[in-house]
Amino acid sequence: MTLRSVILGTGSALPRRRMTNAELATMVDTSDEWIVGRTGIRERYIAGEGETTATLATDAARRALDMAGLAASEIDLIILATATPDQTFPASATIVQAALGIDDCIAFDVAAVCSGFLYGVTVADNMLRGGAAKTALVIGAETFSRILDWEDRTTCVLFGDGAGAIVLRAEESDQASGRGILASRLHADGRYNNLLNVDGGPSTTGTVGKVRMKGQDVFRHAVVNLAAVMGEVLEASGIASDDVDWVVPHQANARILDATARKLGLAPERVVVTVDRHANTSAASVPLALDTAVRDGRIQPGHIVILEAMGGGFTWGASILRY
Ligand code: UT7
Repeated sequence: MTLRSVILGTGSALPRRRMTNAELATMVDTSDEWIVGRTGIRERYIAGEGETTATLATDAARRALDMAGLAASEIDLIILATATPDQTFPASATIVQAALGIDDCIAFDVAAVCSGFLYGVTVADNMLRGGAAKTALVIGAETFSRILDWEDRTTCVLFGDGAGAIVLRAEESDQASGRGILASRLHADGRYNNLLNVDGGPSTTGTVGKVRMKGQDVFRHAVVNLAAVMGEVLEASGIASDDVDWVVPHQANARILDATARKLGLAPERVVVTVDRHANTSAASVPLALDTAVRDGRIQPGHIVILEAMGGGFTWGASILRY
């Protein structure tokens, strides 16, 4: 037996308001045909009044706790991955903690943009196996709509808002066949900061800034880096790509999902795709897609699942687990 972090529950939350490509075409010079053809995105959800990163994160966390059958008081670690916190400080994780009525636990945000959930999962897994905590909520939540330049058609059509959460618990697991996270790998290369960033911040302009991206350059790096890091977790876990049941990728662009799966020789029907419905929700996209595939019955206990993401920094990472 070995101590592993096991997913006990998943949950997600979307804002009330759905925005189609047709609606976007009334705002900037774009078309449904261009957006679907280049990205696979058909619609996204946009936060409205009273909906924030922390409220969406709290809703997703409650659903994950419900599925796990756990009371919030059993949580002793909250890691919230976001690039769009409610406030510069305190960490939105503490807002979620208060909303869930948890008196005392470890709570902090991680900032790794679209890879944030993978960073959060990896940190939580190490803290759980190291004994710093027993039961964690790892959440990815974003309201990117609030940092988009709604006049820039090269970015505003790509992103959406939402949240996803998992409950992870440290449990003794059979070495060969037990559930839990088997391996994770994280990377960052800050030389590429300028290809995907916001043009502001508290310590520079004193504003939050707007999203800027050189899409084609990001695309090229994404396919190479994601295929490489997925190869690393396969090798570290000793699992062959043929034995992977599901890949739950960061949902940036349907063409990136296809190209990455092809590079690894994974069948496209093994890739969970939600980019058509959610667009790119940054740190929320992996847990949103995971919750979708768990709740519709595709991902079953015992399945081998790879989670992967790449985003601003650049940062990228992957985890492989037995669900
Ligand atoms: O989440 C973090 C990771 N992010 C990503 O992984 C994003 C990676 N990049 C991408 O997904 C793609 O590069 C995009 C979807 C952002 C862009 O697709 P592309 O095929 O690389 O298009 P492009 O940037 O080369 O632009 C092609 C043309 C340009 O026109 P010209 O110069 O050829 O006349 C753009 O001005 O499409 C034009 N264009 C648009 N046209 C209609 C750019 N945005 C739009 C738009 N509607 N919204």
